[in-house]
Amino acid sequence: MQVLSPDAKGLAAAADLLRRGELVAFPTETVYGLGADARSDKAVARIFDAKGRPRFNPLIVHVPGVEAARQIAVLDDRAERLASAFWPGPLTLVLPLRPGSGLSPLVTAGLPSVALRVPAHPVASALLAAFGGPVAAPSANPSGKVSPTRAGHVLAGLAGKIAAVVDGGPCTVGVESTILGLAGDAELLRPGGIPAEVIEACLGQPLHIGGNAVQPTAPGQLLSHYAPSSSVRLNVSAPDPGEFWLGFGPAAGKADLNLSLSGDLVEAAANLFHFLQEADRVADGSPIAVSPVPEHGLGRAINDRLRRAAAPRP
Ligand code: TXA
Ligand code: MG
Repeated sequence: MQVLSPDAKGLAAAADLLRRGELVAFPTETVYGLGADARSDKAVARIFDAKGRPRFNPLIVHVPGVEAARQIAVLDDRAERLASAFWPGPLTLVLPLRPGSGLSPLVTAGLPSVALRVPAHPVASALLAAFGGPVAAPSANPSGKVSPTRAGHVLAGLAGKIAAVVDGGPCTVGVESTILGLAGDAELLRPGGIPAEVIEACLGQPLHIGGNAVQPTAPGQLLSHYAPSSSVRLNVSAPDPGEFWLGFGPAAGKADLNLSLSGDLVEAAANLFHFLQEADRVADGSPIAVSPVPEHGLGRAINDRLRRAAAPRP
């Protein structure tokens, strides 16, 4: 793992690694982010692999400015006002995803919305400019561990699992960005670097305090987003006649679609959302049978997603 300095040479090297689908940690004003090209399925799958995340929750996409945000999402008047007041800065807006945005569906976990933020840290801005595309970046720590505010923390948690970290010194804010949902009524989804009161003052109205849109308490709320229209049967080694077979590994050589013929979990994760959609389209109402996927590494996140797809419909 390389430690890059935040000068022109280091940033060019970091941008180059991102272009090649590698993972690069970089400083933002809140915490260090674990960056990947948000348009690359494989690169985004690697984020979940490196962090050891047991599920595919949606990630925040970092862009250099409001123009880049408008190409990915639909900004209404409220979003425009908040963007001009708080971007660049520790505010993330969850907005309707623009069709044809080019983002990997792993970034949004298949949701029709996207979380966008324009970081204020000069090293983050310079890296986004050098890279020239959207960067998905959760905090650069293993899942379940505290968020890193120095390059040394990133090294301690992720050395050997990522290509590089850009060392930009300590982060100033130290807590993650505030996340505001703007798909409907303005909703505080995560408190963070910008206080809710300041956002309320800018909007001229009180915020709803959000249930977590990603892990909602009401059962079914999330499932309905995740479920294909065909029924889904899991852990099937030999599908019934008439079933669409979504396979995994060499044992499923005859499957209609195979998440990874070689049994590579990163490849399977990168294909998962595309193949579920494709299976649903081609199956055209016939049941979908899915091969067993091993319950380790990225397999845990894949199985979590598959269980949601197979769960009884609301
Ligand atoms: O300060 C930060 O925001 C840091 C730095 C690195 O920028 N990033 C960060 O990213 O915390 P991340 O990917 O860990 O944040 C993910 C959270 C999800 O757990 C979820 O709460 C919310 O962002 N989120 C992302 N997309 C969403 C969506 N479409 N709808 C609702 N919530 C979403
Ligand atoms: Mg985190």
